[in-house]
Amino acid sequence: MPKGEKLETLNILFIGDIVGNPGIGMVTNFLRGFVDKYKIDFVVANGENAADGKGITDKIAQRFFGAGINVLTSGNHIWDKFQIHEYMMQERNLLRPLNFPKGSFGSGYVVYDLGHKGKVGVLNLQGRTFMYPIDCPFRTSDWALEKIKAETNLVIVDMHAEATAEKVAMGWYLDGKVSAVIGTHSHVQTADERILPKGTAYITDVGMTGPYDSIIGMKKENAMKRFIYATPSKYEAADSDAKIAAVVLAIDRANGKAVSIERILYPAFDQSVNPVPVSNETSGK
Ligand SMILES: [Fe+2]
Ligand SMILES: [Fe+2]
Repeated sequence: MPKGEKLETLNILFIGDIVGNPGIGMVTNFLRGFVDKYKIDFVVANGENAADGKGITDKIAQRFFGAGINVLTSGNHIWDKFQIHEYMMQERNLLRPLNFPKGSFGSGYVVYDLGHKGKVGVLNLQGRTFMYPIDCPFRTSDWALEKIKAETNLVIVDMHAEATAEKVAMGWYLDGKVSAVIGTHSHVQTADERILPKGTAYITDVGMTGPYDSIIGMKKENAMKRFIYATPSKYEAADSDAKIAAVVLAIDRANGKAVSIERILYPAFDQSVNPVPVSNETSGK
């Protein structure tokens, strides 16, 4: 690049799985602030758990679009609210993983036109390890990228998967072919954000936007019973200690390569020590 020429970046905010009303509240209250602070041009968010933890409704999706989200991605929970199927057929900016069998409702990728700032492709994929054995996400990405790359070289991939290794594999598989591979689904943010050698920003999981006084977003009492009794229990989103989990990506507009990736968890965990009083009389001696 000639000396003095400024690198023009497209700044993208990617918000992790939005869970229930606490997650919706974080997005509607804080999105504008993040957009201003990081000079965001484009917002992607995974909305698969927005409707009390299970799926999303057309009303919630419209609320998100109204709040400034450009594209909503999803995952295995997108099918939980049957009423959304019709909406998914008409709303191109609400995605479901592309590698569900052909004929499933909705779209798995979109090319979004930002006018003079150019076009951004968003591709939603889902892993198969410890999940439904749907079509191959790797081969599906080959097919989709041929189409998307005809229009833009700025491409963001939401890799919705359970196994960390499968997400890491997708990061390496797509290194140099897309701008970013962002993992979702685990609801626990990982600290491995980096830019891979050929210019693809990567994180294994961006984390959950929702209530943290919970078991990955669900009420602790109910979710714990599933593990203790190994039987189904009520599925209900928790309601307190809401946080927003996201990454901010800067992408070189000229070639679609990532320039930076910054991880956000807001508000941060309170790390202060809160000791439990120890009684000397219970030492057992
Ligand atoms: Fe999720
Ligand atoms: Fe999921």
